[in-house]
Formats: sequence, C-alpha cells, structure tokens
Amino acid sequence: MLSKKVEKALNDQIKIEAESSQVYLSMASWAEVKGLEGIAGFMYGHSDEERMHMLKLVKYVNERGGHAKISQLKAPETDFGTFQKMFQKLYDHEIFVSNSINDLVHITLEEKDYATHNFLQWYVAEQIEEEALARTILDKINLIGNDKGGLYLFDRDIQQISVESAASGNLGE
Ligand code: FEO
Repeated sequence: MLSKKVEKALNDQIKIEAESSQVYLSMASWAEVKGLEGIAGFMYGHSDEERMHMLKLVKYVNERGGHAKISQLKAPETDFGTFQKMFQKLYDHEIFVSNSINDLVHITLEEKDYATHNFLQWYVAEQIEEEALARTILDKINLIGNDKGGLYLFDRDIQQISVESAASGNLGE
C-alpha cells in the first residue's frame, strides 16, 4: 500500500510525464510544418515514449492500492523559433524531469517505501539515457552550425538516433 505522500508524489510525476509527451508532440508538429520530417518523426516517437513513461506510473499506482489521477495539463509552447533552440529546450526539459525523478526517489526513501524505490530505478536509468541522447544531439547541432547541407543530413539521420544508440556512443552512422 502506498503512503499518501508517495501516492501524491507519483501522481505529480504522472502529470509531468504527460506534459512531456505534449511538449514533444508540439515540437513534432512544429517541425512537420517547417518541413523537417526527420526531426518531426523523432519528436513523435519521443512523445510516444513519454506517454509510455506516464502509463507505467499509472499502472503502478493503481496496482499498489493507490489511485492514479489524470489531471489537466499545462499547454505546451507551439512555436520553437529554430530547431537549435528546440533541441536546447528538449535538453533543459529532460534535466527538469531528472530532477523531479530524483526528488521522487528521495521521498520514497524518507517514507521507507523500498518497493517504489526499486520501481523507480527504471526511471533513474532512463533519465541517464535521455540526457545522454539530448547532449549527443546538441553536440551534433553545434557541429552543423548554420550549414544547410548539414541540416539536411541531420534531418535525414536523426530518425536512426535512438536512446540506445546514443547511450552506447554510436549514432547509427
Ligand atoms: Fe519521461 Fe523524457 O522523461
């Protein structure tokens, strides 16, 4: 059985994962409208992953005798300026999510909820990979600068970039 404090913290994280999914969906739509199909495909996929992160938490809370609450979400931005700025936002957002997961893990220790602590280790590992992926992409973008040919290749190749390949240092090249 979850303590009220852990249940509330997990519900807060459910909202954050749902909002993350919306943020990346909005980025996908923006990129698609700009004709950046590869980047759009990557963001659509990332949005789906965040929804999966959310669902995993929903199932866990309900399984442990809590009630996962589906709440209203903050509307994401709809204009991201440039693709460089958009990927910087993705990175910043993942750092925000990592901090939130760390706070959640801390609460489970305070509450001596070792089952939830154990369950959350999957998220801890996932955040390491997601941060690595975002950093790898930012490095690549810095290399491209304002080169149009570089952007063309980046847009073509990004669909091959996955969390796993970034974590292993292989960008599918
Ligand atoms: Fe579910 Fe990208 O954090």
